[in-house]
Amino acid sequence: MKVTPVSEIVGAEITDVNLADPISEDAKSALRKALLDHLVLVIRDQTLTPEQQVTFSEIWGELETPSNIEYTTEETHKVMILSNEIRPDGTAVGVVDGGDFWHSDSSHIEIPSAITILQSVRNPERGGDTEFCNMYAAYEGLSDDIKEKIDGLYGIHHVSKVGNKRVTISPDRPGAKDFYKAQAKARPKVIQPLVLEHPETGQKALYCSPRFTVGIHGMSEEESDPILDAIFAPITDRKRPNHYRHKYRENDLVMWDNRCICHRAVGGYGLPDIRRMHRTVVGGDRPYADQHIAA
Ligand code: SIN
Repeated sequence: MKVTPVSEIVGAEITDVNLADPISEDAKSALRKALLDHLVLVIRDQTLTPEQQVTFSEIWGELETPSNIEYTTEETHKVMILSNEIRPDGTAVGVVDGGDFWHSDSSHIEIPSAITILQSVRNPERGGDTEFCNMYAAYEGLSDDIKEKIDGLYGIHHVSKVGNKRVTISPDRPGAKDFYKAQAKARPKVIQPLVLEHPETGQKALYCSPRFTVGIHGMSEEESDPILDAIFAPITDRKRPNHYRHKYRENDLVMWDNRCICHRAVGGYGLPDIRRMHRTVVGGDRPYADQHIAA
């Protein structure tokens, strides 16, 4: 197995491995080290069936069950489909607007996702990249003043796009407005530390995103807005050197560490051009915040 960095700041390409085969302990250790060192792995030439993707994913921990069974594969409900494909009856084959704003997966639940694994099944002719931001570097690059201000603070995270002025709802997803309105009522807000000590490396990472972080615990909107603007800037401002933009080749499998990576699906494609990704998610093994603090 060969590990080659794809940029100085984040990402490595992995070649000469077949993830459909049983993974040896040595290969697993090498992959874990590569993930902790490079935060995003681009594993070339993989054609995993949904079941094989689950088998590979489960070596990293217990998988999350996607909340929307409707958008999972026939073979297994543990694999979620992200796709812009619409059936003749108007229903969507997968989640159409998945990941369209900067986020860390499931930071809106008490125990957020640890690792996400995305197998590219069908790439559009153009567009469809995923962008990644190294959140250790994002934290390091903050001014001392902002670092001091956010020390010990908690972000408020919510899954619904309704009420989040920093995001919009895609017109391409059937029923999206009603879906997000229902979520706004049904799903609770949670708090997460704005600075996360990575459970495995112990390094400090910025832990917030324009998609899910809608406020700062204990602060009014007027107080929190300038701080949120300052900590979102190193994520959204791609002139800062924290980013890697991945353009998919056929049969790429990409995995990333949500505890130190923020990412977004860049878009830029449209029907009849189809993008299809199969996504599995390894759940976290601990909460980062005591939710009683917010009560
Ligand atoms: C995601 O946000 O998990 C998916 C990103 C992508 O589809 O590029």
